[in-house]
Amino acid sequence: MPVTLLCGDITQAKVDAIVNAANTRMLGGGGVDGAIHRAAGPDLLAACYAVPEVEGVRCPVGQARITAAGNLPARYVIHTVGPRFEFDDDPPALLASAYRTSFELALGNDCRSIAFPAISCGVYGYPMAQAAEIALTVCLDQRYRQLEEYLYLHQQADLEAWTVYLPSSERAAF
Ligand code: APR
Repeated sequence: MPVTLLCGDITQAKVDAIVNAANTRMLGGGGVDGAIHRAAGPDLLAACYAVPEVEGVRCPVGQARITAAGNLPARYVIHTVGPRFEFDDDPPALLASAYRTSFELALGNDCRSIAFPAISCGVYGYPMAQAAEIALTVCLDQRYRQLEEYLYLHQQADLEAWTVYLPSSERAAF
């Protein structure tokens, strides 16, 4: 399946699983986390509270958790926690793991399509170009190509930065 980059609001994505750039508490926040919770409604927060936590951590950095999606058009929200670029150890490995664990949960829940935001590229300060190269390397892994993959960028400039790292064979019209 192709990897499609597009500029838009991920809460509108018509896919089986929308990936959320969450934090380890998984109880909402700003950025795309806030947008997804606003669009999904209170049922999403209730589903997050139901995820077991250890000392306030429901999802460690680099891992992912899956919940129902409330009012969103998707079947699931996959909450993943990307690295804080200036703080966490080995940001490239943790960022790749955030994408990889999200893919594994999507495949494990019979999803046929998945939409990602630019994980860690906002509040968590990951430089867009470095994140794009890491993320697209994971997205192009043969294990995940059975999924329709969408990368939702919020700004046109971000979309153009990501497109640089997408092989020309994958470039959909945008
Ligand atoms: N659709 C698609 N992309 C979006 C949307 C949206 N509606 N809103 C924001 N984005 C983009 C941002 O422009 C950025 O490029 O998502 C990317 C990720 O930015 P953040 O949402 O700030 O996520 P992150 O950098 O991973 O920081 C996570 O921020 O919101 C809190 O609770 C969250 O503590 C966590 C931290």
